[in-house]
Amino acid sequence: THIDWDIDMAEKGGHPDFMIKEILEQPRVVRDTLVGRLTGTGELDIDELGLTYEELDLIDRVYVIACGTSYHAGLIANNLIEAWARIPCEVEAASEFRYRNPIITPTTLVVAVSQSGETADTLAAIRDARIKGAKVFGITNVVGSPVARESDGVIYTKANKEIAVASTKSFIGQVVSLTLLALLLAQVKGKMNTRQVKLLFHELGDTAEQIQWIFDTQQEAIHEAALACKDAHSALFVGRGMGAAISYEGALKLKEISYLHAEAYAAGEMKHGPIALIDPGFPVIAVTTKSPVYDKTVSNLKECEARGAKIIAVATEGDEDIKQIADHVIYIPPVRDAFSPITATVPLQLLAREVALMRGCDVDQPRNLAKSVTVE
Ligand code: AGP
Repeated sequence: THIDWDIDMAEKGGHPDFMIKEILEQPRVVRDTLVGRLTGTGELDIDELGLTYEELDLIDRVYVIACGTSYHAGLIANNLIEAWARIPCEVEAASEFRYRNPIITPTTLVVAVSQSGETADTLAAIRDARIKGAKVFGITNVVGSPVARESDGVIYTKANKEIAVASTKSFIGQVVSLTLLALLLAQVKGKMNTRQVKLLFHELGDTAEQIQWIFDTQQEAIHEAALACKDAHSALFVGRGMGAAISYEGALKLKEISYLHAEAYAAGEMKHGPIALIDPGFPVIAVTTKSPVYDKTVSNLKECEARGAKIIAVATEGDEDIKQIADHVIYIPPVRDAFSPITATVPLQLLAREVALMRGCDVDQPRNLAKSVTVE
């Protein structure tokens, strides 16, 4: 009825669907997740840490366990924790971790990432890790959720309720929270001083404005890119380093809401098989933001282009060279490579949504999916 429609639109803040509403809320999620987390003297302040700095300093191995999009946030945390805290870190799907009898000691930290805080596999993995004596830290969007209750400490992602089944704003909240955790571990282990942490903390907050810039300037480029790949049967997402992690999330977004098959690959892996997939018009969606591996990624793309691939590139504003090989370029503002997942993921969220709409899909309630998988 008309009234239902009004209520529905009110809930969506006047937007046509929850997914776009939640994507547009991402700048605020960055800010809200950081509020109050740095003291005046430049010390990180994670209020529900639950672990002492002495306990954290003793940690000699980190497992990040999660499912789906939350697992992709873990891929990003893996890069940051190893790069900054210099301790071994592994990311694993919770459904695998819990059955393979992983090596766990009292100085192991298990970080469980879960928007709902009630995913069955993630919960089971936490319980198993605790029995084996690990310290457990939760990253969740739901206060008082089982993951929060069963962890020693927790960081809440402050994304507010996420209605769309495809996770967007909570992913951004997870990446920001995991970045804070990586900074804390680096600081506790003496790998970073207060001045460095403070600098990175403020740069992290600046990604809020960078996301807004994408909304304000890239909508047309995203629409054109969606038109270019909406009729494909499959798509390949490629990137290196942080670009690889972003590619995994981009591929999941596309397939789960538009039902277009998509897979992600580390760009360096192309010649070990996947390049056989490329035929004229095959869409390759590449994360080619400025990074230490930019040139290598571009050379991988040239091989795809030589075989007729249709290339859509997420690139850094000001990069004109990428236009030599990409059919479509979606720009993001210059950003530190460590923080690029926060901004470079946004064009892929918007691209997936545009393709899904063009294919007549329900972006908020994709077929076969539930918002949280509380059964195995
Ligand atoms: C991602 O868009 C999906 N909604 C799904 O993969 C989700 O990330 C996964 O089920 C994990 O859910 P959780 O974060 O609530 O544990």
